[in-house]
Amino acid sequence: MIQAFHVYKQYDRETSALSDVTLNIEKGDFCFLTGPSGAGKTTFLKLVFREELPTQGQILVGGRNITAIPEGQIPHLRRSIGVVFQDFKLLKRKTILENVAFVLKILAVPVKEQKRRAFAALKAVGLHHKMHAYPLQLSGGEQQRVAIARALINEPMLLLADEPTGNLDPDMAQEIMTLFQDVNARGTTVLVATHDREMIQRMAKRVIGLDRGRLVSS
Ligand SMILES: Nc1ncnc2c1ncn2[C@@H]1O[C@H](COP(=O)(O)OP(=O)(O)O)[C@@H](O)[C@H]1O
Ligand SMILES: [Mg+2]
Repeated sequence: MIQAFHVYKQYDRETSALSDVTLNIEKGDFCFLTGPSGAGKTTFLKLVFREELPTQGQILVGGRNITAIPEGQIPHLRRSIGVVFQDFKLLKRKTILENVAFVLKILAVPVKEQKRRAFAALKAVGLHHKMHAYPLQLSGGEQQRVAIARALINEPMLLLADEPTGNLDPDMAQEIMTLFQDVNARGTTVLVATHDREMIQRMAKRVIGLDRGRLVSS
């Protein structure tokens, strides 16, 4: 699902966010991406989502070289990937339900179907009772769960999550991981960046380790 070949990312002359990263994540895998702060985890996810381009090297997603696809095809790529990123905020002026349904609206899914699926996705993260609330009326952890519902609504081929349990208490974090496992069991490839060692140990999945931009375990 994700193939990286000798990927380098330099934001400026001094810092190498990623250096010579080569790895392969199979379709249907569930992997953790870990490493200390500044290791390059977020950068790697951003490259896969084509939010950033590598300085050198190639990345294939679903067999397509995303470093070479035309600009016009980026939205299509992104719609096939569910993302829970820290800087991907919810739309403040839309309700929780509208936020979650948004991508279905873009895809011109019938309104009734949009509502049905958005409600189901909110139910899966335990927030259906707040569907008419606005993002700022929710706690940080609740907003995080809405972002997760939004990422999963389209049954994406790939789910990328950046520290998805950072704002959550341990019980809720475990529930979210269980939800990710269910999604994975239905065929979505899952890649979760986290520095939560306990979570990683409990889950017993493949772990890809980064340190200062270099792959240290895979
Ligand atoms: N937009 C950016 N501009 C400049 N440097 C960046 C940018 N984003 C990340 N970096 C640097 O790249 C390195 C890797 O960062 P990041 O991918 O966020 O690591 P992690 O998510 O593992 O904490 C860090 O040294 C960070 O300061
Ligand atoms: Mg990060």
